[in-house]
Amino acid sequence: MNGTRWFLASVSVVGCIALIWSIDWVVEQFSPEDHPSRVAYTPDEDIAPVDLASIQRGWPSNLDDPGVRNRMMAHLNDTKGTVPRPTASAAGPAKAETPPDLGTLLANATAAEGEGKARACVSCHDFTSGGPDRIGPNLWNVVGRDIGGKQGFSYSGAMNAQPGGWTYEYLFEYLASPARSMPGTKMTFAGLRRPEDRAAVIKYLATLGANPPPFPQPQPPAEDVADAEVAQ
Ligand code: HEC
Repeated sequence: MNGTRWFLASVSVVGCIALIWSIDWVVEQFSPEDHPSRVAYTPDEDIAPVDLASIQRGWPSNLDDPGVRNRMMAHLNDTKGTVPRPTASAAGPAKAETPPDLGTLLANATAAEGEGKARACVSCHDFTSGGPDRIGPNLWNVVGRDIGGKQGFSYSGAMNAQPGGWTYEYLFEYLASPARSMPGTKMTFAGLRRPEDRAAVIKYLATLGANPPPFPQPQPPAEDVADAEVAQ
């Protein structure tokens, strides 16, 4: 093969490659290839909405879990440019459960149940008439007694500084969390969280004395109050 033939052969090879490229270019103009960063499908309307809260709880380590990242991407793509859906709080606060009043709690409680719950107190308190003070003062006749009023017991400054007597209402508040109700109290007892338990213990305390003050009256439920107002 001489030089001219070599030249022609090279020209035709280069020409072929150029031809293939240009055909490819023309075809690309009519049917563009999908760009890899574009989503290949849009989620159907009936796909369950992504539970963002559950994803956020495990944030960010769960982004490596299979599917989580994709669900996030789908969600972001889905909600792009939309305003947030109104939540329950935006639509109005959920009707708050009004806790039963102390009168109702006391009416429903029994002293026997309260005596059982008061086992939490016996490591520090004696409940008998004329009984000793322990870590805490003797609690015979405590309802109605002056706060910090047991003779001979050395109370904390906080208890001494508290004016007034032990009403059912104040016992109910104090026993829920002594430290929070009376910062500085020496009574290192976490408290009785359940209102029913406190009411039962207080009902039991009321049996420890000759003349307990009368219990507060049970209040009618909130709806009845509203009805009564309408009727007037
Ligand atoms: C860890 C020991 C401890 C436990 C348990 C405990 N208390 Fe006390 N309590 C005390 C101490 C100490 C005081 C004195 C507080 C002060 O001076 O600040 C006190 C004070 C009181 C007072 C005030 C008495 C007064 O004379 O003013 C009442 C009422 C009381 N306790 C009720 C209870 C009841 C009811 C329970 C159980 C549900 C209980 N306590 C459990 C240690 C305890």
